[in-house]
Amino acid sequence: MTLLVTGGTVVTATDQYRGDVFVDGEKVAVIGSSLNIAADRVIDAAGKYVLPGGIDVHTHLDMPFGGTTSADDFESGTIAAAHGGTTTIVDFAIQYKGQTLHHAWETWMQKAQGKAAIDYGFHMIITDLSDQVEQEMDALVGEGITSFKLFMAYPGVFMLDDGSIFRALLRTGKNGGTICMHAENGGVIDVLVKRALAEGRTAPKYHALTRPARAEAEATSRAIALAEMADVPIYIVHLSAAEALEMVTEARDRGLPAYAETCPQYLFLSYDNYEEPGFDGAKYVMSPPLRPKETQARLWRGLAFNDLQVVSTDHCPFCMKEQKTLGTDDFSKIPNGAPGIETRMSLVYDGGVHAGRISLNRFVELTSTAPAKIFGLFPRKGTIAPGSDADIVIFDPNKQLTLSAKTHHMRVDYNPYEGRRVTGVTETVISRGRVIIENGTFTGRAGSGTFLRRSTR
Ligand code: URP
Ligand code: ZN
Ligand code: ZN
Repeated sequence: MTLLVTGGTVVTATDQYRGDVFVDGEKVAVIGSSLNIAADRVIDAAGKYVLPGGIDVHTHLDMPFGGTTSADDFESGTIAAAHGGTTTIVDFAIQYKGQTLHHAWETWMQKAQGKAAIDYGFHMIITDLSDQVEQEMDALVGEGITSFKLFMAYPGVFMLDDGSIFRALLRTGKNGGTICMHAENGGVIDVLVKRALAEGRTAPKYHALTRPARAEAEATSRAIALAEMADVPIYIVHLSAAEALEMVTEARDRGLPAYAETCPQYLFLSYDNYEEPGFDGAKYVMSPPLRPKETQARLWRGLAFNDLQVVSTDHCPFCMKEQKTLGTDDFSKIPNGAPGIETRMSLVYDGGVHAGRISLNRFVELTSTAPAKIFGLFPRKGTIAPGSDADIVIFDPNKQLTLSAKTHHMRVDYNPYEGRRVTGVTETVISRGRVIIENGTFTGRAGSGTFLRRSTR
């Protein structure tokens, strides 16, 4: 099967030019102007951007959490991702206490196989670092699971102590893996949560009020210090607080390989959302929580000046009905997480490029190229070049869309951005040479996504 995308503006992290893209099988074969090559199918992209497929390196599909399971599985979640212009995800497999990493990997492979409609890789969450598990990290890196998420929060569930974190960091110095850190001071938060509940403060907003920005900043600073002592890079996930960003900026100014991502929810939503009437604040219960509105400008600045390198989603949807309501009388029982796998590209384009905060190239870098580079997928993914996978998004920069649970494809009963009108919409999506989104319809196949063996740094 061959495909010719004609007349569009090809945009990568570094270039922007009018060009035709010829796809042969699963790969980009030729790029040129006015290509005269016969193809099985020609797609006219005049007036549109031709972008590398979006890469979302932070998703939680079919993930057990707090007595329930995230509402999107690998089928519904990856189809929703595709609608929004994302062609690759890196999801999180979880090692529970006493289990091997291989067991976790197999479990998550089974969740994805036969269901994923786009390509996927896994990070491995380590919750129990025995000597044997430490050795297993090397084997996993050899299998293409080259990044590990550790938690400084959720004591007794996910949290690792500093010694274990340090050992894991040291190990990546040998095996070339990358540690991704959930940086919040779990001990402090636990005390604040218990105190709030004892005082009868049970509403959703207390989730945010018991997770102070300083708890995120302290953990971010500690994570960076541990990585510095281990002499390895560190990647901070879902950074939300300006105070935490300061820690990353300071480290980068000292030349340390400290990287961080933020997510659309922290760029577009704020603490004010927790004050919505009734139980609606539960829609935004996620960790770290939403921060004061002023933080948004700081984060955008961080993205523009490369103190933040990636925008991922932390897509972890729970329905209001029957899931978020687990915490009706106790905010600490509200499952943590919010949906966003489908809305990332349009939101970042709208708030970033359309609003004049970042360039078009930077948009591509943040949503595709940088995640591909940091997580061992480049140049197979994250760019449009001869030899790269034909993961291509034809994006209409002028089209508008109103985000809504009524029309989105995520399997969740609310949209955190309900009613927000965005400019810049994914029109056509090609995944390894196959058209999987066309005219707002999914034309791909569940199960056609493949597991990605990622390389090391
Ligand atoms: O609230 C969140 N972020 N839920 C997903 C789990 C995590 O910590 O990323
Ligand atoms: Zn996390
Ligand atoms: Zn997450």
